[in-house]
Amino acid sequence: MTAATSQPASTGEQIQVGADGVSFAINDGVVLINNTIDEIAKYYVGDRNILEKIIAAIAAGGHVLLEDYPGIGKTFVAKLISGVLGLSYKRIQFTPDLLPSDILGTKIWRPAKGEFELMKGPIFANLVLADEINRAPPKTQAALLEAMEEGQVTIEGDTIKLPTPFIVIATQNPIEFEGTYPLPEAQLDRFLVRLSLGYPEQELELLKRRVIWQSDDPSDQAVQVLDSKKLALIRSLLESSVKAGEEILQYILEFSQIRKDARVMAGPSPRGLISLFRMSRAIALMNERDFIIPDDVKYVAIDVLSHRIVVRPEFALEDLSISSVVQEYVSKIQVPK
Ligand SMILES: Nc1ncnc2c1ncn2[C@@H]1O[C@H](COP(=O)(O)OP(=O)(O)OP(=O)(O)O)[C@@H](O)[C@H]1O
Ligand SMILES: [Mg+2]
Repeated sequence: MTAATSQPASTGEQIQVGADGVSFAINDGVVLINNTIDEIAKYYVGDRNILEKIIAAIAAGGHVLLEDYPGIGKTFVAKLISGVLGLSYKRIQFTPDLLPSDILGTKIWRPAKGEFELMKGPIFANLVLADEINRAPPKTQAALLEAMEEGQVTIEGDTIKLPTPFIVIATQNPIEFEGTYPLPEAQLDRFLVRLSLGYPEQELELLKRRVIWQSDDPSDQAVQVLDSKKLALIRSLLESSVKAGEEILQYILEFSQIRKDARVMAGPSPRGLISLFRMSRAIALMNERDFIIPDDVKYVAIDVLSHRIVVRPEFALEDLSISSVVQEYVSKIQVPK
């Protein structure tokens, strides 16, 4: 990772965490976020909106589930993000024989010292790529639950804090192969968004860049733009500066109507509604606003809600897609004046 060169002039070295008088305004946050996305987009060829949504989810303090076909750049994007955000990175390949201790770590008896030594597992990183998460059995998937929700893990009775920030980007293949374990609803609910990268439209551009890079994996050529302190600043900016009036909260609440839909077995949880609020707020910030508008909510509703909804089997058989159910509500719910 090379040193930062694309720092915004308005923030530069003056950024400090905490209430020490350094101002960090919406505009500073937007510049940092845009520089981050620009740097990733130098290497990742594809839909910029998807990159924006991934970075918005991370800014909002969330975890991301990427659902896509092999070879579409999931691992590549995760590595780029860890580099450009200046975060420590570990990749865990989920397999049927993966044990919880392979993720969390374990205690090993050291006879010479007469004590147990903690061997930390790969979960101890800022950014964890949980690759093909649905290939591991539920017990192993569950090892991620406490980590994702509470930023801590319990190893043989001891609770240990994970580094901050702690971000999980998980991938799963949309085709149901034999021997996969679909993520249970409780696990899915912990992802702020579920996104698909999709095939890039400009694949010729991708091939041309490949020639220039002289490497299949140029992710280590990307320049660091953020670090954990700047990410923390952006996160606190979201909490303190982007407002949400009663009307927009009421609008978000309307999406709970999906619970009563006859075609739906389980609708979005309260956590789902809060997630919709958090993600919409990050989108508002990226659009240089200190308030959420209904379009922010609409823009992310499918990404935030669709993996939290279960359609009744008889409708699932008819190929009713959950996205289309959410889209119906996006169109139907009255926008506050
Ligand atoms: N959209 C893209 N932009 C730039 N490079 C890409 C893109 N998609 C794929 N690549 C290239 O293809 C290589 C393979 O992608 P990657 O390993 O990220 O795929 P993946 O989605 O993680 O696949 P798998 O599901 O098999 O793990 C990357 O190293 C990169 O060089
Ligand atoms: Mg991969």
